[in-house]
Amino acid sequence: MRVIETEDYEAMSLEAASLIAAQIREKPDCVLGLATGSTVIGAYERLQEWHRAGQLCFAGVRTVNLDEYLGLAPEHCQSYHSYMRRRLFDGVDIDPANTFLPDGTAADPWEECRRYDRLLREMGGQDLQLLGLGHNGHIGFNEPGEEFVLPTHVVELAESTVRANSRLFSSVDEVPRRAITMGIGGIMGARRVVVAVSGEDKAEAVELAFAGPVTPRVPASILMLHRDVTLVGDRAALARLPKEMRV
Ligand code: F6R
Repeated sequence: MRVIETEDYEAMSLEAASLIAAQIREKPDCVLGLATGSTVIGAYERLQEWHRAGQLCFAGVRTVNLDEYLGLAPEHCQSYHSYMRRRLFDGVDIDPANTFLPDGTAADPWEECRRYDRLLREMGGQDLQLLGLGHNGHIGFNEPGEEFVLPTHVVELAESTVRANSRLFSSVDEVPRRAITMGIGGIMGARRVVVAVSGEDKAEAVELAFAGPVTPRVPASILMLHRDVTLVGDRAALARLPKEMRV
């Protein structure tokens, strides 16, 4: 695993965006696996800026997102569909037909999970998967448990995840309790993985994930077995990693 330590959130966002931009320049028709959440917003802003400056073209790019809340329509303002439009897609020249997220309103959510895995296979997997990290070590919405769940699946969100995500809703009761998430198999199938972390409040999760045993109790720890992972974090988030891992 490669670790890139930066001074602050802005510099972390720049590094994460640079890795994504390098992927697009290397392979203009690449498949990007994308995440939502607060951490990656800065990186998406940099990508939009570079596009506006004529330095980055998304015309051939296809994207596949990690997750979507169950029960939220794509038009819902808190859906991950609308997050992606707002934070990235509307600001770049990507073809909306080339952007994929699970359908949170599918009549049969488990069938939707199978469709999503078929889609991922047909796309040939992600060239680069961007991840954030949950306080409990989740990636996508793969929550801590007794085993690593490999395929895309329906998940009950952990109470801590519901609370963490409630900051974006008007009350905690409005946060959906279930989601569809790409599984650990789909994430580990990516040819490159970039994990973005920021802030003191992520330091413990970073330590558990990247300096402890591989265990489904900390889903991100499986990434230690992936052969091309870059952890990009600011100083505060990486503070609890052993010194020899930090560069
Ligand atoms: C969302 C997702 C989640 C977030 C994680 C961190 O698509 O995949 O795993 O990346 O919950 O969220 P933030 O960045 O808001 O702390």
